[in-house]
Amino acid sequence: MAAYEYETHQYDVVVVGAGGAGLRATLGMAEQGLRTACVTKVFPTRSHTVAAQGGIAASLSNMGPDHWQWHMYDTVKGSDWLGDTDAMEYLAREAPKAVYELEHYGVPFSRTEEGKIYQRPFGGHTTQFGEGPPVQRTCAVADRTGHAILHTLYGQSLKNNAEFYIEYFAIDLIMSDDGVCQGVLAWNLADGTLHLFNAKMVVLATGGYGRAYFSATSAHTCTGDGNGMIARAGLPLQDMEFVQFHPTGIYGAGCLITEGARGEGGYLTNSEGERFMERYAPTYKDLASRDVVSRCMTMEIREGRGVGAEGDHIHLHLNHLPPETLHERLPGISESAKIFAGVDVTKEPIPVLPTVHYNMGGIPTNYWGEVLNPTADNPDAIAPGLMAVGEASCASVHGANRLGSNSLIDLVVFGRAASIRAGQVVTPGANNPEPNKASVEKALSHFDALRHANGNVGTAELRLEMQRTMQSDAAVFRTDKTLAEGCVKMEAVARKMDDIRVTDRSLVWNSDLMETLELDNLMPNALATIVAAEARKESRGAHAHEDYPNRDDANWRKHSLAWIEGSKVTLDYRPVKLDPLTSPAEGGIDPVKIAPKARVY
Ligand code: FUM
Repeated sequence: MAAYEYETHQYDVVVVGAGGAGLRATLGMAEQGLRTACVTKVFPTRSHTVAAQGGIAASLSNMGPDHWQWHMYDTVKGSDWLGDTDAMEYLAREAPKAVYELEHYGVPFSRTEEGKIYQRPFGGHTTQFGEGPPVQRTCAVADRTGHAILHTLYGQSLKNNAEFYIEYFAIDLIMSDDGVCQGVLAWNLADGTLHLFNAKMVVLATGGYGRAYFSATSAHTCTGDGNGMIARAGLPLQDMEFVQFHPTGIYGAGCLITEGARGEGGYLTNSEGERFMERYAPTYKDLASRDVVSRCMTMEIREGRGVGAEGDHIHLHLNHLPPETLHERLPGISESAKIFAGVDVTKEPIPVLPTVHYNMGGIPTNYWGEVLNPTADNPDAIAPGLMAVGEASCASVHGANRLGSNSLIDLVVFGRAASIRAGQVVTPGANNPEPNKASVEKALSHFDALRHANGNVGTAELRLEMQRTMQSDAAVFRTDKTLAEGCVKMEAVARKMDDIRVTDRSLVWNSDLMETLELDNLMPNALATIVAAEARKESRGAHAHEDYPNRDDANWRKHSLAWIEGSKVTLDYRPVKLDPLTSPAEGGIDPVKIAPKARVY
């Protein structure tokens, strides 16, 4: 191995990733006086949260009656009874507080006539425990909500003296021999130097791994880097089989057209001009939960009622809406439709197709963001010194399917929760643990091996092979056959990492090496997804298994855990947390309200 020098930095907390969750955690840590570094591979305001359009869910009741318990009920039902009940209560209860904090930090929310935060309807959000009409719960900044949140949180973090290491790529976690996280090794992309961030707490806020698939609304940067580091540290990933397809990615381009478009009155039609969602979801129609709408669209196409020359997509109509609504509430997607589909939304429908959008699975945590290292004796055992928040994590608040606009609220509620917990367990300024030299050496040798990889398979070629396999074999609908074939193919694809070729050996802006490190992170994500999907013999949320079309609570209401080593995946399971945080006597939800039942919209 080449000899590498690195600079060591001492912090109380190092946050990896500067999207909504990473920035909210960074800000919360810095506000409490913890010495906080945020290490990010892209400039903070270019993180993928910038692409979040429609809004952030919180029961503010600005547009009509709402209640946190209704929000909790919708989240439980949306999760298809796989979410952890304590985390879902925490999310729904804390959401209004977290949104008002954002408002006070300066997020420029759209307003009602009275000056309150504007809220729009979103899929699966209802009133009266699913018995009443849809609710307007999604707080919006036109259709650029994530963009506004990122800019505000970055500014506030700087104001509170958080320190940013921008365009630094995190290589690996530094772990003690007894499993305590002591920091992270990172590579400065701009000048090629290496940096060891030694800290009492590492927070992974590295986002999802949408780019394991061929067509995704996710940015090319969404490569599951934190999940990859977790797998290499010998820790498990949870519920990876649950991959969300957003109903309305632009056909061909994959860019997101927000669910807010249907929230503002848009609707879907098939080749017969039929509003087919009325048939499948008579009550909530186009505002049924995302997994439901994506499946219905796929069925329409499979049954020969898709639109276009190939009959392979669906139309989304906004042309009946007043131009001023489009201008005021949906300016971003009007522009995207023009640029990426050549469509004037005031006149024509947008061609759309279900597109990979979100990973419900990720790094298992409790609702304080502490990473779990479950054992046979203790499914809730904690990996000390390590937290995860945002899409990288699995709290598990979304279970088998996330509701639209529950992602942005997850980022800020759990980013904030992690900082509250760190304030309790981290002693500011105290000496940091001495980094484990063997762990540093291991991280350097992993980096060096890829830098000098001299095999026969190019990174782009292998990435495409992985993406095509996942797209065809771990799709909206899955069967025993496709999943079994997919597992065999993915194992063969993953083995080719041993034969990868990197041609640029330099350390300064070496995008060849960076993309190879990203592919190395994507691979365990893809493997865990398809292997856990093959093992789950039921249909639940986003996991629609044609050979097992029903949910099977007796056998499968449990979280999957996947340990990945090379191309091998070992599975185990841990129980779903069924108890709410508070009892009805304490003002909590009546457990009868959230007992499992058929999930219809
Ligand atoms: O449709 C959207 O605006 C996406 C929101 C979300 O994924 O939460």
